[in-house]
Amino acid sequence: MSRRADALRGRLRAPGDKSISHRALIFGGLSVGETAIEDLLEGEDILSTARAMCELGADVRSIGNGSWRVRGLGNGGLHEPAQVLDLGNAGTGCRLLMGVAAGHNFTSFFTGDASLCRRPMGRVATPLMLMGARIVARSKDRLPLAVIGAADPMPIEYRLPVASAQVKSAVLLAGLNAPGETSVIEPEPTRDHTENMLRHFGASVRVEPFEGGRKITLVGQPELTAANIRVPGDPSSAAFAVTAAAMRPGSDVRIENVGVNPLRAGLFATLRDMGADIAFADRRDAGGEPVADLVVRGAKLKGIEVPPERAPSMIDEYPVLCVAAALAEGRTVMRGIAELRVKESDRIGAMAAGLAACGVAVEELPDGLIVHGGDVPGGVRIETRMDHRIGMSFLVLGLGAREPIGIDDARMIDTSFPGFAEAMNGLGARIGPPP
Ligand code: S3P
Repeated sequence: MSRRADALRGRLRAPGDKSISHRALIFGGLSVGETAIEDLLEGEDILSTARAMCELGADVRSIGNGSWRVRGLGNGGLHEPAQVLDLGNAGTGCRLLMGVAAGHNFTSFFTGDASLCRRPMGRVATPLMLMGARIVARSKDRLPLAVIGAADPMPIEYRLPVASAQVKSAVLLAGLNAPGETSVIEPEPTRDHTENMLRHFGASVRVEPFEGGRKITLVGQPELTAANIRVPGDPSSAAFAVTAAAMRPGSDVRIENVGVNPLRAGLFATLRDMGADIAFADRRDAGGEPVADLVVRGAKLKGIEVPPERAPSMIDEYPVLCVAAALAEGRTVMRGIAELRVKESDRIGAMAAGLAACGVAVEELPDGLIVHGGDVPGGVRIETRMDHRIGMSFLVLGLGAREPIGIDDARMIDTSFPGFAEAMNGLGARIGPPP
């Protein structure tokens, strides 16, 4: 439960980036030698990927304080897993590893928790089958499913039907074992951590502008060599503290070591458009990813129309943007985000229902939401639908609502932000167990 709080003040170090942490473990397992990873996110989703990589034969171990070591088996060298790979709540871990498995000549079985078993896997299965893998899923392309990897994967040129970094990454990971060039055409640029990491581990990747989007081409069958990685702080986790501080006048918060890759930083631009005072201080490069400290000073925010083309760069941040919108003056329009309906929950439905329960006027659209901001009465308990970001978003809303806001289940928060309540309370938030 969270209660109305005064302005937030202080410093916070965001937990490691979830997208980069999954990829660091996977690429470490696919390369020759020992990869040292620092500041790995030790959230449940990443631990699921770590366990799956062990099942696939990599030697993955923690040496404490966020430092991990991965001894890989080389590109194409993973082993058939003896057990079902259970990815828990982790859509990224599951889809990327399906790509890896599709390019290996063995059979593997994938499952996940109730939320992951509801999410569509056909978007990944379709291109992987074009590359020669066979995939047998439960009806409507859902987990559990089996991936029968291709003995000789074929390179393809694949145009993404939806803007999805997970699908792009799955195709590129399968393409690692195909001869020749595997290309993915994305109509809108999505997060490029896979491309960056492929290069970092020694593969050759070309990125060129293509019909308003981009074409990414991987030269197949590279030698992948161990490379060290320092994981930057996750902008999607920093988003909760940034939003909480930005919308509470008088706040003054510094969030250290946040990844500010432009393909991830859309929320910060959007909050600025709403009148927020957010500065990037001490910009630097951390292993190929741009990083900065975010200095946030509270202000009264106003509603805006969010440019739909910005969606891929802030796709995970709409739930917390809805919170800023609910407390801002006026109307905020968010469109072009139908993808939100197939995340850990239907986030459009979950936010619309939760905001309405809190007394906020909200219109649910097939591909978005319109939030009429101002005063938030609160005084309710919200259903989080097994979705960490829905849970954290409503706890942030409680900091500005008149009455406390509770959530039905806080456990999922550990998938991406272990220690969320303590970190926020360190800034002056009032988040605790229900009375
Ligand atoms: C991710 C891509 C996005 C995002 C997810 C992480 C990734 O999903 O929502 O949290 O690490 O590649 P989609 O690829 O489905 O858009």
